[in-house]
Amino acid sequence: MQQLGIRPEEPDDWWEVEALYDLCFAPGREALSSYRLRDDVPPVDGLSLVARDGQGILAGAIRFWPVHIGDHDALLLGPVAVHPTHQGEGLGGYLIHEGLRAGRALGWTRVLLVGDAPYYKRFGFSRLSGVEMPPPTNPDRVLGLELTPGVWEGVHGPVTRWSR
Ligand SMILES: CC(C)(COP(=O)(O)OP(=O)(O)OC[C@H]1O[C@@H](n2cnc3c(N)ncnc32)[C@H](O)[C@@H]1OP(=O)(O)O)[C@@H](O)C(=O)NCCC(=O)NCCS
Repeated sequence: MQQLGIRPEEPDDWWEVEALYDLCFAPGREALSSYRLRDDVPPVDGLSLVARDGQGILAGAIRFWPVHIGDHDALLLGPVAVHPTHQGEGLGGYLIHEGLRAGRALGWTRVLLVGDAPYYKRFGFSRLSGVEMPPPTNPDRVLGLELTPGVWEGVHGPVTRWSR
């Protein structure tokens, strides 16, 4: 971790980050329903981060997208990935904490993701009931975090693509 440099993602990083995601996720990741929320929508400015080692090799990356649930706005966390040679060093946790801190600073109040509850509960994520990602998504993997207390209360329904 110490030798890694972490900075906001820049346009020149885009395809290298895509290659890291291809390496870290199962083939066909872009067929996942959560990607339909990202089609033709840019990630939230200022929240995407890249981590590079001393040789400049990409070690990890995180992006966030804006989404709607009815009239409510939320951040969709992910993809986040750490190169296999750096997994288990705390980098994934660092990228998530930094991204959430920056999201809060930008005024975002609620975050959701599709992922493994055993990993994300350490950041405070828990299952969101009644918030529906595009099918087919296992509802047990739809997790939420409030950056302001109580902001998920009464928020139900389908998650839709950002349209502002
Ligand atoms: C998930 C991922 C981003 C975590 O990054 P990382 O830098 O390895 O994570 P950290 O070092 O911060 O944390 C490691 C801890 O998370 C745990 N962990 C990692 N993935 C996990 C998972 N899917 N479920 C439960 N625990 C998990 C490790 O066992 C380790 O536990 P410990 O702290 O008790 O030893 C990384 O493993 C990765 O890129 N995986 C492949 C892509 C992926 O699955 N992304 C997440 C989408 S849901």
